[in-house]
Amino acid sequence: MTITELTDDEFSKFCGLIYRAAGIRIADSKRIMVGNRLRRRLRATGIGGFAEYYGYLTSAAGAGEMPQFLDAMTTNETYFFRDPQHYQWLGGEFLPELARSAAMRRPPRRLRIWSAACSTGEEPYSMAIEVAEKRPILAGWDIRILGTDISGAALAEARAGRYDARALRLVEPARRLAFFDEDAAAGRWAVKADLKALVSWKLHNLLMPLREELFDCIFIKNVLIYFDRDSKQVVVKNLLAALAPGGYLLVGPTEGVYNMLEPLEKRKTWLYRKPGG
Ligand SMILES: C[S@@+](CC[C@H](N)C(=O)[O-])C[C@H]1O[C@@H](n2cnc3c(N)ncnc32)[C@H](O)[C@@H]1O
Repeated sequence: MTITELTDDEFSKFCGLIYRAAGIRIADSKRIMVGNRLRRRLRATGIGGFAEYYGYLTSAAGAGEMPQFLDAMTTNETYFFRDPQHYQWLGGEFLPELARSAAMRRPPRRLRIWSAACSTGEEPYSMAIEVAEKRPILAGWDIRILGTDISGAALAEARAGRYDARALRLVEPARRLAFFDEDAAAGRWAVKADLKALVSWKLHNLLMPLREELFDCIFIKNVLIYFDRDSKQVVVKNLLAALAPGGYLLVGPTEGVYNMLEPLEKRKTWLYRKPGG
């Protein structure tokens, strides 16, 4: 099957669809990339051309293809302990501070953390490692880390919890030993069951409100770079609504939402706290 190049019209139609579905603005310079990624979906579905695929995707019959289309269009690059200072804050400041202030109050002792756009799971598992290492000061706590993403394929990898050396490049040997089982023949490390038990997963589009309990801490990193101002504002509104009073929002270096966070107290360029609590 020979598939021709994407025409201008087809490219802009697919870009419009991605924007409406996920809030992502695709730059004109990404046309070859979009064409290549679409070709993969054409091969997988056996559809012979871009226009036909677009028609299918936007029809009632093609609704089931939408998640695969979004999987193909999103960039899932991530690794454990990306931006180590964020995890040093989580394990070294946030968790001890939380344990100290909880000691002065009555139970329940509850901790909720959300990795918003968690991709293949390295971010929430890194959070879980920090939490697991602080078990002595969090004994008896009800703890849940939630990883969400729009990509079902990324979440399937997150659930499987098997990673290669590249993903683990910032994980020290002692932590590898404590939290992973090595499959040397396959060159993979599998997350141990007790670490997995700390994390749950959910398919979720950041453009939609998350119907969950309020979170004490939310990470939003390396996802909003491709969103325009309007979609960023929708996402920020949803994140702020999900944050508990006194909770922290940790923002990645490329999100470009600093000027939308006025309701929060700025603690660092990447760290914001919701008043109250
Ligand atoms: C580059 S990864 C970032 C992973 C991790 N937060 C990190 O910083 O390493 C970006 C993720 O955002 C997800 N994503 C893109 N648009 C989304 C949306 N509208 N809602 C939820 N997730 C989205 C993609 O599927 C992808 O897995």
